Amino acid sequence: MLVDKVFNDKKKEVGDFKFDKNVVSVFDDMVVRSVPFYLEMQRMLTELSADFAKKDTNLYDLGCSTGATLMNLDSALDKSISFVGVDESEEMLKKCRKNLLDNGITRKFDLISTDLNNGVVLDNPSVVIFCLTLQFIRPLYRTNLIKSIYEQLPENGALLMVEKVLGEDSLFNRLFIKYYYEFKRRNDYSEIEISKKREALENVLIPYKLKENEEMLKSVGFKYVEVFFKWYNFTGIIAVK
Ligand SMILES: C[S@@+](CC[C@H](N)C(=O)[O-])C[C@H]1O[C@@H](n2cnc3c(N)ncnc32)[C@H](O)[C@@H]1O
Repeated sequence: MLVDKVFNDKKKEVGDFKFDKNVVSVFDDMVVRSVPFYLEMQRMLTELSADFAKKDTNLYDLGCSTGATLMNLDSALDKSISFVGVDESEEMLKKCRKNLLDNGITRKFDLISTDLNNGVVLDNPSVVIFCLTLQFIRPLYRTNLIKSIYEQLPENGALLMVEKVLGEDSLFNRLFIKYYYEFKRRNDYSEIEISKKREALENVLIPYKLKENEEMLKSVGFKYVEVFFKWYNFTGIIAVK
């Protein structure tokens, strides 16, 4: 696995963060070193998906990146369930396809390139996963996207989300961010790398508060909304129709 050095160059100017070729080539290292309990959250997503994915339906992974979630799910779900990975980054989808095939995926799958800001059409879904992706959807379109997912899910269909969140109060938000940067330091990111990535993500990754996410899910109609993971400024939420 290539080590993430995307923001290691002191002299390079920082632009908006993009899931381009540079990021894709180091993404698997980047995500494990940048997201607390990433592997545990993946495991939880697998367990919860297995509870709600129904035979002969499709499971959607929105913002599937290199396919980590789909690869984990392959051994846990009934073979009649097909996977649909969605991402706007062609580079990500190329890597995802390669990973799925190299890992000998045992089921039908489809990878779709689209910008989720424009909405998404779901065919026969039972589970929809948004792992660290909704935070990149422009706030203007976020509630409508969630509403349309709700409308397309069947009764008892599930939406699983993992998101970076803001603290409910600025006091805690400051502390959470302080401890998050300490987590990154422990994972060998330098001060330069931490501050350059923060700058690059500023206009691109827009976190909501946990309560705002919960209210959004409830406001579109989800009957059950429950937090299944929380670590400072990261959370996992399951919503069931
Ligand atoms: C942090 S990554 C997701 C990580 C992945 N789900 C996982 O579990 O490892 C965010 C992904 O969302 C995709 N993405 C961001 N904005 C998007 C959009 N508007 N439409 C579709 N995909 C988008 C990016 O290309 C990237 O692959």
